[in-house]
Amino acid sequence: MNELNTVVASAQADFNQAGTPADLENAKASYLGKSGRITELMKGLAALPVDQKKSQGAAINLAKQAIEAALNARRQALADEQLQVQLEAEALDVTLPGRQRGQGGLHPVSITMERIEAIFGSMGFEVAQGPEIETDWFNFTALNTPEDHPARSMHDTFYVEGGSATAPNLLRTHTSPMQIRHAVQHVKKHRAAVGDGGDGLFSGTMPEIRVIAPGRTYRVDSDATHSPMFHQCEGLWVGENVSFKDLKFVFTDFCRIFFESSDLMLRFRPSFFPFTEPSAEIDIQFQSGPLSGRWLEVAGSGQVHPNVVRNMGLDPERFIGFAFGMGPDRLTMLRYGVSDLRLFFDGDIRFLSQFQ
Ligand code: DAH
Repeated sequence: MNELNTVVASAQADFNQAGTPADLENAKASYLGKSGRITELMKGLAALPVDQKKSQGAAINLAKQAIEAALNARRQALADEQLQVQLEAEALDVTLPGRQRGQGGLHPVSITMERIEAIFGSMGFEVAQGPEIETDWFNFTALNTPEDHPARSMHDTFYVEGGSATAPNLLRTHTSPMQIRHAVQHVKKHRAAVGDGGDGLFSGTMPEIRVIAPGRTYRVDSDATHSPMFHQCEGLWVGENVSFKDLKFVFTDFCRIFFESSDLMLRFRPSFFPFTEPSAEIDIQFQSGPLSGRWLEVAGSGQVHPNVVRNMGLDPERFIGFAFGMGPDRLTMLRYGVSDLRLFFDGDIRFLSQFQ
């Protein structure tokens, strides 16, 4: 008995001295290993008389259990120590300021685009998307723009490969080609739906065309108020009895909702565009705020020219309408008081985050 107590005490002392898991496993071997003290004592049982075997065996087992418990306790203690050392080495200074990721969000011009779509959507306008690489036909010719119009010059328009000498491809200079593309589709669909197989100008009854076409447009131009890529939103309303009065009503409503200002004034200033007759620039004037009292140009507009109505596949004796083209970049600048267009392209999070 005494010997067993000594063995257990000695094992406990050795285990506690072991400073690493490897030392501990070595110390374990001298007690529980193949020729360890406990193993040897077990072997010695064989030589004992039967009556002692049982009690001595039980005592050795108890000692073995005590040694195993001491071993496990020390293993745990060493693991805890190691974890503690590791935690201290990897300690974080939670008082340091975090590295911010920067919150993403919609670009202010995208916010404007969505707003325009929502407002015109509420007035029954569809939204159409079209190609940014256009043909000379849709961008100019179909819109009644003469061969020698300055907008067609190399200085103003980006011509791109892929077209022919007589029908060059270009980056659309405005969203107006969508007037033709959308109207042609509208007429075609309607004719198919009513089983009209004719291919001349359509002069029957047809649901009105009411559409806006927002998107990117391109011109050779770059300064504080012009960039080579900019945005436009086209509007078109064609029917049998659509007049300038409707244009005034729709556009005035749009501006007042867009700028959240009911005392906003609008002015339709006579102008010229090849695809409208008569044509007008639309100016707005705020009655309060930093821009109050100044007339600010926001869109071109007019009654769709009969030649353009014809290129839509419609009989101009029956169909009439108005169109407008506005600049969402400028609308965004006016709404938020941004003075330099280039801020929209810098991608500076300090600027962009102000619109969220
Ligand atoms: N497309 C013209 C431009 O880019 C703007 C414009 C004027 C569009 C009159 C129209 C319109 O639809 O009727 O300057």
